[in-house]
Amino acid sequence: MKIKKAVIPIAGKGTRFLPATKEIAKEIIPILNIPMIHHIVVEAVESGIEQIIFVTSAGKFAVEDYFDRNLELEAFLEKAGKTKELEMIRKIGTMVDVTSVRQKEQLGLGHAVLMAQELVGQETFAVLLGDDIVMNDVPCTKQLMEVSKRHGGAPVIGVMNVPREDTSKYGIVRGTPLPDDKMTLRMEGMVEKPKPDQAPTTLATPGRYILSPEIFSILKEIPRGAGNEYQLTDAINILCGRRDVYAHQFQGERFDTGHLMGYLDATVDFALRDPALRPAFVEILKQKVLKHKVIL
Ligand code: UTP
Repeated sequence: MKIKKAVIPIAGKGTRFLPATKEIAKEIIPILNIPMIHHIVVEAVESGIEQIIFVTSAGKFAVEDYFDRNLELEAFLEKAGKTKELEMIRKIGTMVDVTSVRQKEQLGLGHAVLMAQELVGQETFAVLLGDDIVMNDVPCTKQLMEVSKRHGGAPVIGVMNVPREDTSKYGIVRGTPLPDDKMTLRMEGMVEKPKPDQAPTTLATPGRYILSPEIFSILKEIPRGAGNEYQLTDAINILCGRRDVYAHQFQGERFDTGHLMGYLDATVDFALRDPALRPAFVEILKQKVLKHKVIL
């Protein structure tokens, strides 16, 4: 069955982005002139998703508004003859059906996903985290959907290879590669932030999932885990004991824009990717290196 719905939890407090996140959602902060969440929603849409379910909290209206029409702005741009901008704004406001549900208390990612249960219903669905951007010609979520389809609609967790010394920063999967597809593992479970010498693999889970609806009953059962929060990882571990779950090493470059250095990395990278910005930006970088006496 086609996967039509994607859950995007954006209810977190974004403490690593304070003070900006005191009043605005982290996901609306732009990289250059494009909000982070725009990249995530485009990935979902280009993967074939027809309905986005945002799990929101107080003060996140800007994200919902961003994907809505802005008729006043459209009229202004039309009158001003700014056709290119008008087209861009209309496209954003009409690209996908957006619904939202509130997470009233920030009790963790697992709890946030559970809030979407009614809107998801009995369908296999995608989950994309708002602060992980993955750039690739074939969108990351689409790659996971294809693996899920090959395995009868099974849950698939997106993974990426990380240096062994970094395993303690991530959720790391345990499992056995499939004989006919070395990029996919049959999962035995996940370990949260293992020390390098204790990590079962170096495959980390950066925030892309295809989940089946039985995850909801598990999310209702689990106790609070790490950080006193309901952890999606704990529910996935239980799911692995109940049915086949796969982990797939997706293709693409991932940017962790949830913290300042990852955000800076993405900003510089996106500017250098843009042919219109690149020449002038390279000049700026050269001047900054001289000005700040940076030794490269
Ligand atoms: P993070 O762990 O990155 O938390 O959540 P955060 O609140 O966004 O940021 P920091 O750590 O305080 O800086 C991962 C994803 O899960 C969502 C977040 O919005 C983010 O997209 N989330 C987390 C929720 O929706 N609800 C929660 O209760 C927790």
